Amino acid sequence: MDRILVRPSGPLSGDVKINGAKNSALKLMAACTLAQGTYLLKEVPDITDVQSMAELLRSMGLTVRNLETNQIEIVNPGDITPEAPYEQVEKMRASIVVLGPLVSTYGKARVALPGGDDFGPRPIDMHLKGLEALGVRFSSEHGYIEAEAERLTGSRVVLDFPSVGATENIMMAAVRARGETIIENAAREPEIADLAAFLNRMGAKVLGAGSSTVTIQGVDNLVAVEHTVIPDRIEVATYLSAVGIAGGEINLLGARADHMDMLCQKLGEMGMRISSDSTGLWAMASKGLQSVDLATLPYPGLATDYKPFLVAMLSVADVVGIVTENLFSGRFRYVDELIRMGAEIRTEGHHAVIRGVPKLSGAPVRAHDIRAGAALVTAALKAEGETEIRDPHHIDRGYEDLVGKLKSLGADIDRVN
Ligand code: EPU
Repeated sequence: MDRILVRPSGPLSGDVKINGAKNSALKLMAACTLAQGTYLLKEVPDITDVQSMAELLRSMGLTVRNLETNQIEIVNPGDITPEAPYEQVEKMRASIVVLGPLVSTYGKARVALPGGDDFGPRPIDMHLKGLEALGVRFSSEHGYIEAEAERLTGSRVVLDFPSVGATENIMMAAVRARGETIIENAAREPEIADLAAFLNRMGAKVLGAGSSTVTIQGVDNLVAVEHTVIPDRIEVATYLSAVGIAGGEINLLGARADHMDMLCQKLGEMGMRISSDSTGLWAMASKGLQSVDLATLPYPGLATDYKPFLVAMLSVADVVGIVTENLFSGRFRYVDELIRMGAEIRTEGHHAVIRGVPKLSGAPVRAHDIRAGAALVTAALKAEGETEIRDPHHIDRGYEDLVGKLKSLGADIDRVN
């Protein structure tokens, strides 16, 4: 049973290299089911979610091999088994994104139904409705979705909500469909534009990814390619939160400010100074943080994934901030852990009211999910005494060496067994 131990840290300083985005890498790996051949993915983070996706691909008959640091080679032999077993989907909900590429390539797919998680219910109705519009027929049996189709046919799909996963699943299915598919109200996250760039390299014709209307002309042939994953904007947010809470001055190498305008603006309002240069982002926090109100929204709004970090920052800011969650109903669970550390937070439905305190107080706390766990680590940088974060395996799902990177910036942090 590993634990992360954090003691209060003085100002942070130094450089930290930002890894490739988890939420892009996982989808690019899923897209490797679309065509036979040898793929090379660069800047893939060394995290357990990537290992889970690799296991899923291996279970289907692909080969996944680590080359040098952060590079993986994926070989698709062409005759893979279009099935995602429960053991894999249970570990990682994102496994559902194999559904679109598998059914469009093989005319059938069998994928275990993902359950809910710590954020509350996680429906996939929009994924299924979108694929149905392209001609996929679904049945569900014994906890599995069985998908079947002859060649998919392009169609106009209007999403009820700009869902990231639904946009990706439909996009990956549509690249092999006959004719044109238009996805309206598509999610606009940078990771979607990265997936489209990858698919286009493979020979697909995807236009408008990154905007709310994505147009896909189906093609007959796709080929295996090489691609570099975009930097992880949520990892960047994590280190921005660390320096905001502990104070100091850091460089986030490889970070892209243009992927996180809204966050940089909010952190500016909170009193941080952030600027971008050719190497990435520079951030400085020289005085206490000021409270702000904020609401999560689909991109380019403030990402729900940033929220635990912002709540951690507001916990030690001056004076009161109100946070509204608009994406996941259950995404305030970690607040109870912050309260155990002395934070003054009241939640009411989708809202949290956070009254900043001068200092938190170290306590044993539990990481409930990837971001919540990492946010507790950043909060602990300004907690008197020692904070012990349990269940760090949740953090490992999305972070390559969070402890080592924070240590290199001067944080007093260790991982113990
Ligand atoms: N939704 C539906 N029906 C659907 C799909 C989504 O009602 O068919 C709802 C969801 O319940 C939620 C909202 O739509 O309320 C948005 O969900 P979305 O589909 O956009 O999220 P996702 O694709 O499941 C990805 C990221 C999450 C991130 C969200 C929102 C990956 C692997 N996951 O999830 O990241 O929070 O988008 O930006 O890309 C993380 O990295 O820790 C993480 C949870």
